[in-house]
Amino acid sequence: MFVFKAGVVGAGTMGGEIAHVIADAGIPVVLKDVDQRFVDQGLEKARSLWQGRVDAGKLDADELERKHKLVFGTTGYESFGDVDFVIEAVPERIKIKRTVFSELDEATPGHAILASNTSSLSVTEMALATSRPDQVVGFHFFYPASVMRLIEVIEGDETSLETMQAAVNFAQAIRKTPIRCGETPGFVVNRILNSSASELWRVQEETGTDVKEIDKIVAESKAAPVGPFYLCDLLGLDTVLHVSEHLRDSYGDRFYVHARMRELVAEGKLGAKTGEGFYEHAS
Ligand SMILES: NC(=O)c1ccc[n+]([C@@H]2O[C@H](COP(=O)([O-])OP(=O)(O)OC[C@H]3O[C@@H](n4cnc5c(N)ncnc54)[C@H](O)[C@@H]3O)[C@@H](O)[C@H]2O)c1
Repeated sequence: MFVFKAGVVGAGTMGGEIAHVIADAGIPVVLKDVDQRFVDQGLEKARSLWQGRVDAGKLDADELERKHKLVFGTTGYESFGDVDFVIEAVPERIKIKRTVFSELDEATPGHAILASNTSSLSVTEMALATSRPDQVVGFHFFYPASVMRLIEVIEGDETSLETMQAAVNFAQAIRKTPIRCGETPGFVVNRILNSSASELWRVQEETGTDVKEIDKIVAESKAAPVGPFYLCDLLGLDTVLHVSEHLRDSYGDRFYVHARMRELVAEGKLGAKTGEGFYEHAS
């Protein structure tokens, strides 16, 4: 199947970047959120990523405008009537995702593939909110989606082989590297990433070491580009907390849930997207 037009639902931390990646490959994309303010933030994110390349002398300004015109922002589903592939990137809550999948089932043509960027939830459960569970698949980007090449293509219980193949093809068409995964908790990458993060979270709480000190040591040792607490702020503490709880519930105590992270989420301090988490962030 060729994707002539794509859709992205949810224009938050991931949605704007995902729309950028799709348009950058020359494919028109409609970007939807519930509020025009969030749509505008997503459009601005997509634009700022091209602007960075213009500033670095790697893209000319006309090309930026041409690419940005491929992203159409909306708060409604009217423009979803001719999409071929949609990626849902709304908050990591199964109730919200199932509602969005059932709305997409109504709004999109029958041949369209409906994909989820979920980090941990069941693709099968989302698929069962539609009349086309065989055309529902996981399509998991990594932050920042404009840079990270990997996409986990996740096979739900009902996903057909044709859908898996079409998702793999689409990932390659937008210049990403797909890997096929089964529907296991944490899939591949988050299971690996969270096992090492768990040890750092555990040590921090057992010893009371300052989170900034741990981040500094990790970054200076070049074990990772940024430390684990700063990274969690960038990813969104609500999303990271949900994934870590899911892994602990699925695999037991070898995965750790950071108590202070839970408190921050309860206080609405979700990291960069709300301006405060483990760190303060300029808006
Ligand atoms: N943040 C990450 O690093 C990361 C990485 C990979 C995957 N994910 C996954 O991507 C998904 C989105 O995560 P995020 O970090 O971008 O979340 P986010 O909270 O930053 O953004 C979610 C957006 O969805 C919008 N939204 C809520 N309900 C909606 C609806 N019914 N229709 C349209 N838009 C709606 C919100 O207004 C918000 O703008 C989650 O499933 C998450 O697990 C996140």
